[in-house]
Amino acid sequence: MKICTSKQALRTQIKHWQSQHKTIAFVPTMGNLHAGHIALVEHAKTLADKIVVSIFVNPTQFDKAEDLQAYPRTMQADQQKLEAVQTDLLFLPSVEVMYPSLTDVCTVQVPASANILEGASRKGHFAGVATVVAKLFNLVQPNIAVFGQKDFQQLMIVRQMVADLDFDIDIIGLPTVREADGLAMSSRNAYLSEDERVKASGLFREIDKIRQLIEWGRSDYLNLQNEAMRNLEKQGFVPDYIEVRRQQDLQIPNSDDGELVILAAVWLGKARLIDNIAFEINHFDYS
Ligand code: PAJ
Repeated sequence: MKICTSKQALRTQIKHWQSQHKTIAFVPTMGNLHAGHIALVEHAKTLADKIVVSIFVNPTQFDKAEDLQAYPRTMQADQQKLEAVQTDLLFLPSVEVMYPSLTDVCTVQVPASANILEGASRKGHFAGVATVVAKLFNLVQPNIAVFGQKDFQQLMIVRQMVADLDFDIDIIGLPTVREADGLAMSSRNAYLSEDERVKASGLFREIDKIRQLIEWGRSDYLNLQNEAMRNLEKQGFVPDYIEVRRQQDLQIPNSDDGELVILAAVWLGKARLIDNIAFEINHFDYS
């Protein structure tokens, strides 16, 4: 696996592959890699000739709610995992390389849909994500980029950015990889104590219960959300939001919307956990 820490080294390698007409699939990450990340890399390998992974803990997408310094960094283990799945190139830039200046710079302006849910809780988060993803896309110049549905709103915003700003890149979204008890794999799970880790699977169980109740015919989404909030509070979570939304634009569903997603963000101790379940319901017309 080739490791590039400078933009110049990366660009030289990318140009070389392009001159050989190799296709490139890209998986951007912030490191502390787990089986969810590796599933993206494994899938990327089936889609292109060369696989590029980036590890960059992007300061501009962190807010006060989450400590940039505390974000887990496990570079050696990450490199081993990427070697094991035959990654072709790891791009490992420093903050100085990615952002020679952090003030008075051009950034990506995200649409209003980036201000709800995660965007409402974490001000400026999606502008930070969109900007770094746009920069990485310009550097790596991939044909395909692979993201996880675990970050449902992020995937949606990346898709919209690519469409609106005419990036010639296919965006692939892959299902969330979970631990045996249902907890979505996440670098942030490292913040959980042993006791909290046991409790943490309650989040998936609670949103999956909402899915089941909706599939069985309940459409009083507000009540379902409130019941789930109360149940989670009883289990020791501090819920940020639990919302039933439509997949298309993350707005509140109408009675005839069939493609739904339940999105949740909760605190458990020092960890802010997010999860979602996307599913479809059929509206039968009994008239
Ligand atoms: P990070 O949290 O490291 O996630 C990198 C990619 O892995 C994202 O596309 C995310 O959705 C995916 N992922 C995380 N957990 C997953 C799981 N359990 N199953 C499947 N996929 C999972 O998301 C980011 O980094 C950053 O915002 C980034 C896009 C790199 C921009 O800085």
